[in-house]
Amino acid sequence: MGRVAGERFPSLLGLWLLLCSWGCPGNAELRAPPDKIAIIGGGIGGTSAAYYLRQKFGKDVKIDVFERGEVGGRLATLNVQDQEYEAGGSVIHPLNLHMKRFVKDLGLSTVQVSSGLVGVYDGEALVFEESSWFIINMIKLIWRYGFQSLRMHMWVEDLLDKFMRIYRYQSHDYAFSSVEKLLHALGGDDFVGSLNRTLLETLQKAGFSEKFLHELVAPVMRTNYGQNLDINTFVGAVSMACTDSGLWAVEGGNKLVCSGLLRASKSNLISGSVMSIEEKTRTKQTGNPTKMYEVVYQTGSETHSDFYDIILVATPLNRNMANITFLNFDPPIEEFHQYYQPIVTTLVKGELNSTFFSSRAKDKFGLSTVLTMDNLDLFINSVGITSSVRNKDDPQPSTDGTHVWKIFSRETLTKAQILKLFLSYDYAVKKSWLACPQYKPPEKCPSIILHDRLYYLNGIEWAASAMEMSAIAAHNAALLAYHRWNGRTDMIDQDGLYEKLKTEL
Ligand SMILES: Cc1cc2nc3c(=O)[nH]c(=O)nc-3n(C[C@H](O)[C@H](O)[C@H](O)COP(=O)(O)OP(=O)(O)OC[C@H]3O[C@@H](n4cnc5c(N)ncnc54)[C@H](O)[C@@H]3O)c2cc1C
Ligand SMILES: *[C@@H]1O[C@H](CO)[C@@H](O)[C@H](O)[C@H]1NC(C)=O
Ligand SMILES: *[C@@H]1O[C@H](CO)[C@@H](O)[C@H](O)[C@H]1NC(C)=O
Ligand SMILES: *[C@@H]1O[C@H](CO)[C@@H](O)[C@H](O)[C@H]1NC(C)=O
Repeated sequence: MGRVAGERFPSLLGLWLLLCSWGCPGNAELRAPPDKIAIIGGGIGGTSAAYYLRQKFGKDVKIDVFERGEVGGRLATLNVQDQEYEAGGSVIHPLNLHMKRFVKDLGLSTVQVSSGLVGVYDGEALVFEESSWFIINMIKLIWRYGFQSLRMHMWVEDLLDKFMRIYRYQSHDYAFSSVEKLLHALGGDDFVGSLNRTLLETLQKAGFSEKFLHELVAPVMRTNYGQNLDINTFVGAVSMACTDSGLWAVEGGNKLVCSGLLRASKSNLISGSVMSIEEKTRTKQTGNPTKMYEVVYQTGSETHSDFYDIILVATPLNRNMANITFLNFDPPIEEFHQYYQPIVTTLVKGELNSTFFSSRAKDKFGLSTVLTMDNLDLFINSVGITSSVRNKDDPQPSTDGTHVWKIFSRETLTKAQILKLFLSYDYAVKKSWLACPQYKPPEKCPSIILHDRLYYLNGIEWAASAMEMSAIAAHNAALLAYHRWNGRTDMIDQDGLYEKLKTEL
């Protein structure tokens, strides 16, 4: 199947190029492609940018991807007794179409992810518990919260519906020069404004009860972003979408998408840390003086440098994270000092001390995930049974009452805390992250265009941080770089795209 399509594609493309050489509107004078492009960061943002840049600029451009740690970045696994488990970005929404496309194009497989039965703990008792019976669940939800959970579902669906417009815009090659303009094209002032309102304000205004917000919505925010209802409305909606059904992950680990995209894009991985970027004038082989960017980077103790026509920065720009210096730019490139939220992932193989949450006998506990309310005294954000990245061959029902549990917390758990939470445990590993922005609306997203041919992807995280968001930012930056290189301003920041493309296939 794949081969047939692969063979047909070049001939169609050839035909199209032939037709275009006879005069496609606006396409007549494409400038020669750049020689070299640098991408800084080998996470999902950087590697998907490599993939889209290759698509746009063609096979002759040299693409270097700089990564100072592991390819995958915030997509990483931890090992527990010979099995790998997701330690960073773990679940993907069924409507995350870029991620879906990557998995398909790379020939990877998926696994379904379910959180099992969920309970919510308020620091003293469980305030809500799911039942394995759908009907009983509905009755419980309605009994306690009226029809709010249904309304919440509709609210999220409405936003998601508008959000999905991005795929149509991008498949028609349209790009945006700022995150705000991108959001505006999706959902107008309402979408842009959602970065300026807290989730709490928005949902209160929409008539959701305090009880529902604090008992069901806040615990979801706490698990996904380590924060509370004071985050912006947009990221709040993205976070609530994670309670939909049909969530999935990549078999073998989500990070396989990153290494796969690197290979598919025929990019060159440079395992090094970028220190500085400076614009300089160089004389190319053609003899013309050309403005290029010099990238200075370190591999081990050695310092190197190289020149690029275009640069995409695909890591949060912040002194504690990327620590890249922009030398001698006039005006100077904006410094971003925004804080990132610490989240520690701990994996524990052991038997949960269910009396920590409930006085019920341990064989009657039955929950696989416990979320927590926004309670400052509590040392965990959530705890839940987790499956390995190959969970098809994972023996699910445990015989000895032990499971691998994933705990999110703000700080590293002490041994005493782990012992409180577990009756016994064999093994514990952890990974500390600066996970996502600390959301404090009103939010101003960092610029995408930092300088003439210097682009920044991770500003989109200030709208919402997720794998798909990085992939969307990557596709956008690749299109933006391409159109700006070719002077195609008619493909950037177009108004009325939704109406314009509505009638097209
Ligand atoms: C605990 C946790 C749970 C999450 N859960 C989910 C989830 O369930 N679903 C979801 O969609 N998202 C989730 N996310 C968010 C998701 O993982 C991120 O949004 C996404 O992976 C970000 O990708 P990125 O490529 O933009 O950045 P990163 O993955 O951070 O990539 C940036 C890369 O740049 C490299 N780098 C930095 N500075 C330099 C330098 N100077 N030189 C060279 N290289 C450099 C870094 O080493 C890093 O590899 C989660 C994140 C965390 C931490
Ligand atoms: C949102 O707030 C930012 C920062 O205060 C401001 O610059 C921007 O104009 C506001 N946007 C909207 C749509 O209200
Ligand atoms: C950032 O890099 C500079 C050198 O380029 C170094 O002096 C400084 O300590 C680094 N800062 C952090 C927080 O790593
Ligand atoms: C389990 O948790 C309860 C409640 O916090 C605590 O009293 C008990 O000591 C814990 N059990 C173990 C074995 O740690």
